[in-house]
Amino acid sequence: MASSEQDKSVGRLHSSWAHAGHQVMVSNSGNLSKLEPLVAEMGVNGSSGQADEVVEFADVILFSVLWRKMEQVLNGLGSLEGKIVIDTMNPLTTTETIVGTAPGEHIFEIPQAGSTSEELQKRLVGARIVKAFNHFPAELLVKATQESDTNKLTVFLCGDDKQAKHLVVQLIEDSGFIPVDAGRLSSAHLLENLARLWHEVMEANELKDFAFSITRLK
Ligand SMILES: NC(=O)c1ccc[n+]([C@@H]2O[C@H](COP(=O)([O-])OP(=O)(O)OC[C@H]3O[C@@H](n4cnc5c(N)ncnc54)[C@H](OP(=O)(O)O)[C@@H]3O)[C@@H](O)[C@H]2O)c1
Repeated sequence: MASSEQDKSVGRLHSSWAHAGHQVMVSNSGNLSKLEPLVAEMGVNGSSGQADEVVEFADVILFSVLWRKMEQVLNGLGSLEGKIVIDTMNPLTTTETIVGTAPGEHIFEIPQAGSTSEELQKRLVGARIVKAFNHFPAELLVKATQESDTNKLTVFLCGDDKQAKHLVVQLIEDSGFIPVDAGRLSSAHLLENLARLWHEVMEANELKDFAFSITRLK
């Protein structure tokens, strides 16, 4: 599922997958005409459909919706048993939506199960959840794909299903990033805290164009 204001940025992910030869169907909350530019950019391998059609169509689903909307979105879908679901969510809410708080701040909530990914796994029994692409802003997806090979960004991933992770590693590489395995799905809260750290560093340093990466020492 693609995203609204972020279409251009997250769309870069979809485009790079389509251009790498994967069949990609994008979706949103219903108005598919908004996705036409993205479908055009994806070329012959791209299409759009309603969310339940995406579930029918895809082996791998990029689940990129607001944490607070997770349940509402899942309610409109059929069974995801056996599907690989990449969870990009952070348990983060912008204060505009919370009465009595200053606008523009981010509130992190701790999901009951420990992370959004484990909540998703609890809700989608039989789906193969992999956490990835949650720890830097979507805008950097565009920049990152323009970087040279020596300056590729790290994308951490975690999950319990080895085969699913293997496939997601391939998708991360196909989108121009360096995958780094962060372990089992129980590590998902660490990746969510990495996103939290990103926000803290961004606010403390008024810095936006950065991401956390692994550096191997020689
Ligand atoms: N944005 C970032 O920089 C970033 C970075 C890291 C992680 N994340 C995480 O990624 C997730 C998405 O963030 P975002 O900023 O991209 O959010 P967003 O701009 O609000 O996009 C959410 C997407 O969900 C779709 N949607 C909403 N209700 C739906 C429904 N009932 N059925 C199907 N699709 C539905 C929306 O469609 P419409 O366009 O039709 O509303 C939109 O495409 C969040 O959990 C966030 O924490 C975001």
